Amino acid sequence: MQFDVWSKGLATLEADCLVVGVFEEAELSDEARTLDAATGGRLAKIVERGDFPGRAGETLLIPDLEGLKATRVLLTGLGSQKNFGRKAFRKALSSAVTALNRTRIASAAFAVARPSFNELDDYYFGRAVAEAVGNTLYKINDLKTSRKGKTKPPALQSVIAGPVRSAGASAAKRGFTHGDAIAAAAKVQRDLANLPANVCTPTYLADQAKALGKSQSSVKVTVLDEAGIRKEKMGCFLAVTQGSAQPPKFIVMEYKGPKAPKAPIVLVGKGITFDTGGISLKDPGAMDEMKFDMSGSAAVLAALTLVSTLRLPLHVVGLIAACENMPGSRAVKPGDIVTSAAGHTVEILNTDAEGRLVLCDALHYARRFEPAAVVDLATLTGACVVALGSHHAGCMSNDDALARELVQAGVRADDRAWQLPLTEEYADQLKSNFADFANIGGREGGAITAAAFLGKFTEGLKWAHLDIAGVAYQGGAQKGSTGRPTALLADFLIHRAGR
Ligand code: BES
Ligand code: MN
Ligand code: ZN
Repeated sequence: MQFDVWSKGLATLEADCLVVGVFEEAELSDEARTLDAATGGRLAKIVERGDFPGRAGETLLIPDLEGLKATRVLLTGLGSQKNFGRKAFRKALSSAVTALNRTRIASAAFAVARPSFNELDDYYFGRAVAEAVGNTLYKINDLKTSRKGKTKPPALQSVIAGPVRSAGASAAKRGFTHGDAIAAAAKVQRDLANLPANVCTPTYLADQAKALGKSQSSVKVTVLDEAGIRKEKMGCFLAVTQGSAQPPKFIVMEYKGPKAPKAPIVLVGKGITFDTGGISLKDPGAMDEMKFDMSGSAAVLAALTLVSTLRLPLHVVGLIAACENMPGSRAVKPGDIVTSAAGHTVEILNTDAEGRLVLCDALHYARRFEPAAVVDLATLTGACVVALGSHHAGCMSNDDALARELVQAGVRADDRAWQLPLTEEYADQLKSNFADFANIGGREGGAITAAAFLGKFTEGLKWAHLDIAGVAYQGGAQKGSTGRPTALLADFLIHRAGR
């Protein structure tokens, strides 16, 4: 996709289609008013007659308006004027792209009203446009055999967006580049997560990581197989994988950009390619959705893809603990006690609390990099979904500054997280009569006790945990990966790179 800015002269822009916004109060946006003047009041008439109510999500394609260079105009609803902000702006963009994608329109000029500069400066404006285009054109990588009409690439090839004054053009263009890369990274995450677990195995994830290492010389990839994992004494990770016929993989990706600092940011992803619950078997209801239990690891792969394509001046290590959680005669049993790589003994009271088991050994592995910060990403608890729904990821940390940094990145990226309190009381719920601690802490505060378990392994590190169980995928008719929290992570990393 080609992106560029426009600054003035909307009526004389050459494009297959001009996209302008209309408010619910039957109010044309400034840009729409400019067009209205050029077309002898046709747009105002359409809106006055009530033919286009301007509701968020709605669009109307108008062909052949006299007085314009462009061949068509697409109206996109902005919702209520008083609520107009970044969110409504993104929605209007995305609805417009959906409408454009139903046509053969190859070039579009976006003149959707802009939120206040405070809310969306030129850089973020460019980013929002490119992200909306990329994310909206995402097509699920299904395995349907009737491929009619689905292999066609989108007709849309070029987007110009504005108005952007000339002083802001370079910032907006940087935004396009970053937004385009963020959407591409989100696609990496979504494609991996959407694959069924019989395709996206730990070995498949490892192969994807190796492929990234091949295509980007700045990324070095090492994969530990079971023997290597055993050498690292990752007893908790091994306990989870022992019931599965699929071999586990521990994936290490290291990106060094230009002027990379010595201390890296380490990203750790939960890579359970399928979570049956193990002997503590899950209900069958939505068990198919447990193929998404590797979303954290897919987000790590996406982040490494992003930093390497943008060549950000960063040092980033990605760690993925990938395996299946299966029942069977070899599977770990409730009450079994295993020894983590850090040396603590853990009583596995519930085999369905497996994410923390693979993560604790991966987090311990992170220490050898003497990291500036460690962030783990995991579809860790149903309790987090109960607490925050699908709107915010849960953020828990032993370092308030790091938590704030992630939460703020989420706000800027419109991919939000909410901090939950990780105070010392929660760790008390993990007491065991037989081992150093248990892997579950009871029903109360389940998202936080899971984090408290991880906290036992991250003492002395600057560490944050993102529980993405509620945000990483959707169920129901729109079932599929959302690509979250790749945008949050991207913003965090871009800011660390000095943006
Ligand atoms: N992968 C699940 C968490 C999950 C649940 C993600 C629902 C997405 C939607 C995790 O491994 C798990 O099973 N957690 C248990 C922990 C419990 C046994 C302490 C849970 O949340 O029920
Ligand atoms: Mn589980
Ligand atoms: Zn799980």
